[in-house]
Amino acid sequence: MKILVTGGAGFIGSAVTKKLLERGDSVVCVDSFNDYYSPKVKEANVAQFAQNPNYKLYRGDIADYDFMKNIFAMEKFERVFHPAARAGVRPSIADPFIYADTNYIGTLNLLDLSKDFGIENFVLTSSSSVYGENKKVPFSETDNVDFPISPYAATKKATELMAHAYHYLHKLNVNIVRPFTVYGPGGRPDMFPFLCTKWIDEGTEVKRFGDGSTRRDYTYIDDIVDGVISAIDRIFGYEIFNLGNSDTIDLNSFIAVVEKCLGKKANIKEYPMFSGDVPITYADITKARKMLDYNPKTKIEDGMKNFVEWYQKNKQNY
Ligand SMILES: NC(=O)c1ccc[n+]([C@@H]2O[C@H](COP(=O)([O-])OP(=O)(O)OC[C@H]3O[C@@H](n4cnc5c(N)ncnc54)[C@H](O)[C@@H]3O)[C@@H](O)[C@H]2O)c1
Repeated sequence: MKILVTGGAGFIGSAVTKKLLERGDSVVCVDSFNDYYSPKVKEANVAQFAQNPNYKLYRGDIADYDFMKNIFAMEKFERVFHPAARAGVRPSIADPFIYADTNYIGTLNLLDLSKDFGIENFVLTSSSSVYGENKKVPFSETDNVDFPISPYAATKKATELMAHAYHYLHKLNVNIVRPFTVYGPGGRPDMFPFLCTKWIDEGTEVKRFGDGSTRRDYTYIDDIVDGVISAIDRIFGYEIFNLGNSDTIDLNSFIAVVEKCLGKKANIKEYPMFSGDVPITYADITKARKMLDYNPKTKIEDGMKNFVEWYQKNKQNY
């Protein structure tokens, strides 16, 4: 298959690209290489594919309709995997406009072009953030997600709704994946698993927001990649899938895991919780297990051990 991967220089996009190329698919990557975190990291992510004849890279903005239309017209891919986004929760409070532009307008461009160019299957990357302060755990796809608590989450929910309109009106096949806090080798340098490792390794203060009781359903990158590839391969019409580990760990215990992996103690300093951060994420993955054969296997202790080994080899690049 020939597949468009938006945001293919990022953490999840490049990991999915690697797997698609390994199994013989062709990948067209579009990425803006923005400076939300160091573009050098994104350059290194795509450099590994540069010599692959089944790989093509375009640098530009998915919110630029004409730019994207030319790519659809030239490349004639069959399927789309769309993780390109402004992805942080906290920065979306400071600059919601850039989130609306990339996440909402960018996604609308891709949906509209997918309709015009007869794309067989469109995989939209939403987020566990859409669950907001959902009281019922674990979170399931049928829970009400009408109450996002950050502009980031609101844009993700908005893209799910627009995708449904395109499915309803134009019969576009859409699978929506909602990843839950993804970590692992190549992980995003703005996220807590990376920052916590860096802070403990360097002996600097570990910023803990809140008392350490917030819980996250951390999901290992290889498990997410398997779930995404299954969602690219399978056509259902319009479906939403949680991709989590369905296991939670509190922040204090998570810090203890990192301490153990590094063999160093954390110097923890408590800060007030950010408004916009949710107290818990916890995925019900029954539906993904059944329909995508999704089967996350990686325990946090093993996944963080792999991450810390990777970090030690690569930290000079950050
Ligand atoms: N990492 C997680 O824990 C997590 C959890 C839930 C959902 N998600 C979602 O998964 C997707 C990928 O996340 P990630 O962690 O790989 O983030 P990332 O920031 O590493 O990757 C996103 C990529 O998109 C690119 N991009 C951003 N705006 C663009 C634009 N306007 N045009 C073209 N390219 C653009 C960036 O340069 C980056 O390479 C995002 O949609 C994110 O919201 C991630």
